[in-house]
Amino acid sequence: MGALGRPRRSCLAVPGSSIKMLGKAQGLPADQVFLDLEDAVAPLAKPDARKNIVAALNDGGWGNKVRVVRVNDLTTPWTYRDVIEVVEGAGANLDAIMLPKVQNAAQVQWLDLLLTQIEKTIGLPVGGIGIEAQIENAAGLVNVDEIAAASPRVETIIFGPADFMASINMKSLVVGQLIPEYPADPYHYILMRILMAARMHDLQAIDGPFLQIRDVDAFTEVAQRSAALGFDGKWVLHPGQIDAANEVYSPAQADYDHAEMILDAYEYYTSEKGGKLGAVMLGDEMIDEASRKMALVIAGKGRAAGM
Ligand code: GLV
Ligand code: MG
Repeated sequence: MGALGRPRRSCLAVPGSSIKMLGKAQGLPADQVFLDLEDAVAPLAKPDARKNIVAALNDGGWGNKVRVVRVNDLTTPWTYRDVIEVVEGAGANLDAIMLPKVQNAAQVQWLDLLLTQIEKTIGLPVGGIGIEAQIENAAGLVNVDEIAAASPRVETIIFGPADFMASINMKSLVVGQLIPEYPADPYHYILMRILMAARMHDLQAIDGPFLQIRDVDAFTEVAQRSAALGFDGKWVLHPGQIDAANEVYSPAQADYDHAEMILDAYEYYTSEKGGKLGAVMLGDEMIDEASRKMALVIAGKGRAAGM
C-alpha cells in the first residue's frame, strides 16, 4: 500500500482492455505498471477493462512493481465508477490511482475523499492508496503547486506530453522530441515547473511517453534530458523501452562510485578523528557540506537501483 519513494524509473503502460498484455506485463522488469482505463481503452471497452484490471491485480504475480491504475479524467462520466469498481474489487492489491488531466486541487481532493470512503467501507487502512497526478494542460501546470499539496496521498507528478502539446496548440506531432523550428528545448519550462512542485512537496517527478516505440535511441535521448534535470523516471509504452529507462534514470556506475567516495571521505574528515574539517580536498576536488548533499542524491538513486 502506498509507494512513495519506491523506484519508478520505468512506468509501463498496460491497456486494461488487453488480457494478453496484462499477463505479459507481470514478468517484465519495469519498476511500475499502470493498468490503463483511460486513453488506451475505447469507450465501449471500458466496462470490461475494469473487470480485467481487478482480476489481474488480484491474481498477483507483480513482484515488487508499484501497481497503479489510471482512471478516466473528471470531465468524463466514467471516473467514479472506475475508482469504485477497481478499489472495491482490488484495493488490497493496489498501490495508487493515477488521475489524468488534473486541473486543480479540488479534483485531487475529490479522489482523496472517495478513496477514504472506499477504504473505510472495505476495511483497508485509510490513506494507504496513493495518488499520481498527471499534468496535461495549461490549468494543470498553472495550478501544479496546489495539486502537489492537495492531499498527503499524492506521490508523483507526471508530465503528459501528448495531451499537453495538443492542449497548448504546440506545432508538432512528435511527442517529446525537439522541434527543428525552435532553437531551444520547448519542454524545459514545463519540466522544471513540474519538478519544482514535486520537490517542494517531496514527491517523485515522472516524464511521460515517447511514442516512436521502435526508436530506442530517440527514447533514450528524450529521457536523458529529464533525467539530467532530476526527474525520477519515465513512462514506457513497450517492453523494448524498459531497460533504457532503468539505465537512464539510474546514475552511471562511475558517478555512483564517486558519490559513495565523497560521502565516506566527508564523514571521515568532519569527524573528531579526521580533524573536524568543513571543507577538504578529495584529489583535485574541494568538497564541503553542499557536495555531501549532491553526493547523497546520486548515492540514494544508486542504492535504490540496487547498485
Ligand atoms: C499521456 O497521457 C500523454 O498525454 O502524454
Ligand atoms: Mg494523456
